[in-house]
Amino acid sequence: MYTSRIAGIGHYVPDNVVTNQDLLQFMETTNEWIVERTGIEERRWVVPGSDDRPSTMGTKAAQIAIKNAGLTPDDIDFIVFATLSPDYYFPGPGVQVQDLLGIREIGALDVRNQCSGFVYGLSVADQFIKTGMYKNILVIGSEYHSGGLEKSTRGRGVTVIFGDGAGAVVLQRSENGHGILSTHLHSEGKHAKELALIGPATSRWVDAIMSENDPEDTSYYPHMNGNFVFKHAVTRFAEVIMEALGANGYNPGDISLLIPHQANLRISQFIQKKMGLSDDQVYNNIMRYGNTTAASIPIALSEAHSEGRIKEGDLVLMAAFGSGFTWGSALIRW
Ligand code: UT7
Repeated sequence: MYTSRIAGIGHYVPDNVVTNQDLLQFMETTNEWIVERTGIEERRWVVPGSDDRPSTMGTKAAQIAIKNAGLTPDDIDFIVFATLSPDYYFPGPGVQVQDLLGIREIGALDVRNQCSGFVYGLSVADQFIKTGMYKNILVIGSEYHSGGLEKSTRGRGVTVIFGDGAGAVVLQRSENGHGILSTHLHSEGKHAKELALIGPATSRWVDAIMSENDPEDTSYYPHMNGNFVFKHAVTRFAEVIMEALGANGYNPGDISLLIPHQANLRISQFIQKKMGLSDDQVYNNIMRYGNTTAASIPIALSEAHSEGRIKEGDLVLMAAFGSGFTWGSALIRW
């Protein structure tokens, strides 16, 4: 069995900065409420009509990751693309990345799993490298939330949270044994509707939405039972972090850097306190980007790495929780 390591990282976010103050034009809210409840100060939102889409943003992040790995697109053997906001209902954006990068006809896999999408994607790619099937796999998380959010007071509980952007890594067969130590994936589908966008999809198709023409119908906007999700998030984050540490014989004090999915700064702070971690051991950038779902961990990883927060030999732990519910972790010896 081989080990896989992250050989290159990249991220891309739209230029358009939307501050909390900017949201006042759509809804009744305050900067104070958003900062106090979520930690978010601003997010990036795609400018409608621009070239930014999940596929193109993901491709830009991937190009940086490939370059940082010292590779060219032709070296990539496989693509894993995680998103909940694909360009099209089908096909998923993995094939668009294959086309945009001009890579030969390699496989492209689309992963859902929402906020846990990147960790799920990383785990899938890790298995392919472990078995020796592939040597260089692109793992991308990319989201374009802003086009589908309900920009009104009714939708404010969800809309203020989400941002757009993309992150990517090249997962590569390791030469020195450093790399992913283990990944841990979970789901609990009985809570699927607590954080979901129900229609348009086959359970509630466009015809039904249009024919009913119900002004109270919000099924085509994301719905979140915020308090319920919050409570499950703090429990599952802690569990899956301890699971990864326990599986490898480590304690929280051994973590060099925890990169939690950026769901809410209060969740990260709760986890930090519960685990007894110092500020140096936890990376947060939700203040600048909001929650970018599948893109949040690779964007944070990219920024943490370029800020010099990750060094050779460090123990890096990624953990995610989100819609499904799904949650997961990946422990890496860098
Ligand atoms: O990434 C996937 C996982 N996601 C998460 O883990 C998110 C988990 N949940 C959360 O982060 C929080 O629950 C939210 C940030 C979504 C909401 O914060 P909260 O402290 O749970 O607020 P709440 O939903 O209990 O709402 C409290 C009040 C309500 O007013 P009343 O009923 O008390 O009068 C809301 O209507 O805050 C109101 N409110 C707002 N007020 C100003 C909700 N959204 C806003 C807003 N601005 N944007």
